[in-house]
Amino acid sequence: MSVLIKNGRIITAVEDFHSDIFIQDETVTTIGKNLDMPADEIIDAKGRYVIPGGVDPHTHFDMPFGGTVTVDNFASGTRAAAHGGTTTMIDFAIQTMGESPLKGLETWHQKAAGNTAVDYAFHMILTDMEGERMKDMRSLIDEGITSFKLFMAYPGVLYMNDGMIYRTMREAGEFGALICMHAENGIVIDEIIKEAIEAGKTEPKWHGLTRPTQMEAEAVHRTIAISELANVPIYIVHLTCSDALEEVKQARANGLPVHAETCPQYLLLDHSYLEQDGFEGAKYVMSPPLREKWNQEELWRGLQMGHLQAVATDHCSFRFHDQKTLGKDVFTKIPNGAPGVENRLSLIFNGGVVEDRISLNKFVDITSTAAAKIFGLYPKKGTIAVGSDADIVIFDPERRETISVNNPHMHHLKADYNAFEGFEVTGISETVLSRGRVIVRKGEFVGEQGHGQFVKRNLFTA
Ligand code: URP
Ligand code: ZN
Ligand code: ZN
Repeated sequence: MSVLIKNGRIITAVEDFHSDIFIQDETVTTIGKNLDMPADEIIDAKGRYVIPGGVDPHTHFDMPFGGTVTVDNFASGTRAAAHGGTTTMIDFAIQTMGESPLKGLETWHQKAAGNTAVDYAFHMILTDMEGERMKDMRSLIDEGITSFKLFMAYPGVLYMNDGMIYRTMREAGEFGALICMHAENGIVIDEIIKEAIEAGKTEPKWHGLTRPTQMEAEAVHRTIAISELANVPIYIVHLTCSDALEEVKQARANGLPVHAETCPQYLLLDHSYLEQDGFEGAKYVMSPPLREKWNQEELWRGLQMGHLQAVATDHCSFRFHDQKTLGKDVFTKIPNGAPGVENRLSLIFNGGVVEDRISLNKFVDITSTAAAKIFGLYPKKGTIAVGSDADIVIFDPERRETISVNNPHMHHLKADYNAFEGFEVTGISETVLSRGRVIVRKGEFVGEQGHGQFVKRNLFTA
């Protein structure tokens, strides 16, 4: 099977030029002007941007959490991702307390295999690394799991104390792996939550008000300090606010291998969404929480300046009508998380490029290339180059759509609401190729559940 993409404007993280692309089977084999090669399919990309498929390094498909299971699984989640131009996912497998993380990996392979529309990889959430468990990390790396997420939040669920964090980081550092950190001081936050509940403060907005920015910044500071001693590179997931960003900036200025992502929800939504009438705010209960609006410009600037490297979604979707309502009496029982995997490219293109905050190259970098590099997928993923996988998006920079659960062009998730309801965006993924195969053609899904393959990742390189 061969595909010829003609007349497009190719944009990578560093280049911007008009050229044609020839794809043989799964791989880009030629890039050049006026290519005249016979091909099974010719795509005219005139007036379109031709960009690398998005890499979303933070999703939670089919995950048991908050007393329920996330509604989007690998089938619905990756199909929606494909519509939005994301062609590689890194989902979080979980080690169940008391069990080997290898068992967790097996479980996640079973969830994903044969179900995904696009390629995928896993991080491993480690919860319990006592004694013998440390050597399992080596086996995980051999299986292509080269990054591990630890939690300073959610005591009694996923939380790890500082001693175990240090030991796990030491071991990961020895192996050359990367530590991803959920940085919030869960111990202090639990005390603040107790105070709030005792005072009868139970509505969704209290989820945000009991998790102040100081407790995120403190945890970011602490994790950087511990990682420096443990000699391991780190990646802060879902960074939300200026206070936490300052800690990352300082560490990077000191030459430490500290990286961080933010998410569209922290760039575009704010605490007022949690304060909406009735129970509506539950849709926006996530951790860390949405912040005061002024933080958004700081995060955009952080991306523009390279202090933040990537935009992931932390897609963790629950139905509003019967899952979020588990917490209708008290916010602590609202499952934490929101949907987002589908609209990331449009939201960041619109908020970043159209609204003049970042360049086109930066748009590609933060939605694809940087994550591919940090997580050992580059140059197979994250760029358009001879020899790279033909994961390519034909992107219409002019088309305008309104994001809505009721807009069949913009919402293919099982989640029964869209966190960006009513947002008007310019810039839509039109045609999407995954390893040389057209999986979305002019907005219509023509891929296959099971086309996606597991990708073993390389170790982090500075
Ligand atoms: O609220 C969130 N972020 N849910 C997903 C789990 C996590 O902490 O990433
Ligand atoms: Zn987290
Ligand atoms: Zn997450």
